[in-house]
Amino acid sequence: MNLSKHYGKLLAAPLSLLLFGLIACQGKVSENQYSVIPQPNELHPVSGNFRFDNSTVFHVSSALDKTCSSMIDSLIRQIEITSGYRMKAEIVEDNEAMPQNGITFSLNKNIAPEGYELTIDPNDVSVQASDRSGIFYAIQTLKQLMPTAIYGKQAVADAQWTLPCVEIKDAPRFGYRGVMIDVARHFFPKEEMKRVIDLMALHKLNNLHWHLSDDQGWRIEIKKYPKLTEIGSIRNKTMIRKEWDNYDTTPYGGFFTQEEIKEIVKYADERCINVIPEIDLPGHMMAALAAYPNLGCTGGPYEVSGQWGVRDDVLCPGKEETFTFIEGVLTEVMELFPSKLIHIGGDECPKVRWEKCPHCQARIKKEGLKANQKHSAEFFLQSYVTARVEKFLNDHGRQIIGWDEILEGELAPNATVMSWRGMDGGIEAARLHHPVIMTPNTYLYFDYYQAKDVDNEPFGIGGYLPLERVYSYEPMPASLTPEEQKYIKGVQANLWTEYIATFPHAQYMVLPRWAALCEIQWSSPEKKNYADFLSRLPQLIKWYDAEGYNYAKHAFGVQAEFEPNPAEGTMDVTLSTIDNAPVHYTLDGTEPTTAS
Ligand code: ACM
Ligand code: ZN
Repeated sequence: MNLSKHYGKLLAAPLSLLLFGLIACQGKVSENQYSVIPQPNELHPVSGNFRFDNSTVFHVSSALDKTCSSMIDSLIRQIEITSGYRMKAEIVEDNEAMPQNGITFSLNKNIAPEGYELTIDPNDVSVQASDRSGIFYAIQTLKQLMPTAIYGKQAVADAQWTLPCVEIKDAPRFGYRGVMIDVARHFFPKEEMKRVIDLMALHKLNNLHWHLSDDQGWRIEIKKYPKLTEIGSIRNKTMIRKEWDNYDTTPYGGFFTQEEIKEIVKYADERCINVIPEIDLPGHMMAALAAYPNLGCTGGPYEVSGQWGVRDDVLCPGKEETFTFIEGVLTEVMELFPSKLIHIGGDECPKVRWEKCPHCQARIKKEGLKANQKHSAEFFLQSYVTARVEKFLNDHGRQIIGWDEILEGELAPNATVMSWRGMDGGIEAARLHHPVIMTPNTYLYFDYYQAKDVDNEPFGIGGYLPLERVYSYEPMPASLTPEEQKYIKGVQANLWTEYIATFPHAQYMVLPRWAALCEIQWSSPEKKNYADFLSRLPQLIKWYDAEGYNYAKHAFGVQAEFEPNPAEGTMDVTLSTIDNAPVHYTLDGTEPTTAS
């Protein structure tokens, strides 16, 4: 980790500030009262505190979406559990005449979507937003401003039930703030998915991309095709670590019933999170082929894959029954998921079977698909699949999103592109005026290691994405014109789970990297500062601790050694991290040097 870039900025700052930042990293100083993550757009501290007591009333404008009341009720319940106070909520009919005491939640149409304004003074707290998401995010901020005892499960006798006075005006930088969870390689059942959603809410994330099917398992009940889960949800064996020909002998499986999916989608919606289902096609389909071998070019037999990686056997787009299958699956998917975007995968689809398959070759001929200098006709066959599936979903009022391979051949007319192989696919799609979600593996693949000392990490897929690198990611390509930049709609981090078999391990991989992620997604770039982020992180970590989440502690491995240099009248600071050589600073404005 090279700290010079960030800590270098602190050279001009008072020593106390530097000390605060560093020691806070090690969790030794009192809480920063205004430690909010993601960093709000505008936060102006004001002296004084608002104090809760038994007479505190929450006033809720009737102009707000009805669902706001239950969000506010759960905040009240949480404060009641830990404070022992009894507080009430009252509906106020006139949005223009909210009371000037207690805590008021009202509608302000001038505030940006998902944004909020929060004013805390000693007598009252005012929360305004133009939509339910804004109210929800204001509540998340309020919780972060409260004493950490608020996160507990029981009354805390001597806690000070106060909020520090402040004025906050906040709204997200990107409308799409996502994470992807792969439940195909390893399965996380309903209760764990709800915990994922809780964590997303804490980080003000609003899109859960749910990778529900892959070679190693089909995880969504489809009533028309019951064998997808009867056969496709179970693999008989799983490869051991990276020993490609060495398997365990334990069947592994799991899937979500449609009832469970409805419950999870509702739970997410209550937290202002949209769930985007992914049915990965036409590649990564071994689980479906094992269940319905006719859907492949050779007719099988196939098995649910116990090995990671990419399989040559994929859906056969030469056969009409393949499209009947896809449409049957997606019809039920649309019934379960109100999401406007439906993810159709599209990644890593080898073309070798299609090259030899008479059905596929007949389709290529019939559709007049031709190779160009860059791509064979089979790539255009994948474009044909994507465009046909897009048409089906568009006809039902939905839009497709796919991995950046859908750019190869010809991009379907209305597709959103998810750029994962770096940022180039996203740049190309934005130039074609298609919406883009940036999720480059070079910054946002959280299955990658977060430390160099991998022997002391849970076994993983490889890579190296420490917290600081994640934080440094800037999703807006400078090479795009301002007009093209408008197509960059959001940012997402992905959790592939080949080597992540348990939920505590999953938490360890995403925390606190989701904290860095949410600041990329939410905060304006001018506000981003890694040292400042680290100084705010301990407060969020207390929340992780209170909720029992497992998180990586590398960021707290920063060591600071201070050495007065009386001759020069300066203070020397050496920071060292777990992974790297120390970085040496002198607090006199000279550039930092990396010690050997
Ligand atoms: C991917 O990582 N195969 C999208
Ligand atoms: Zn075929």
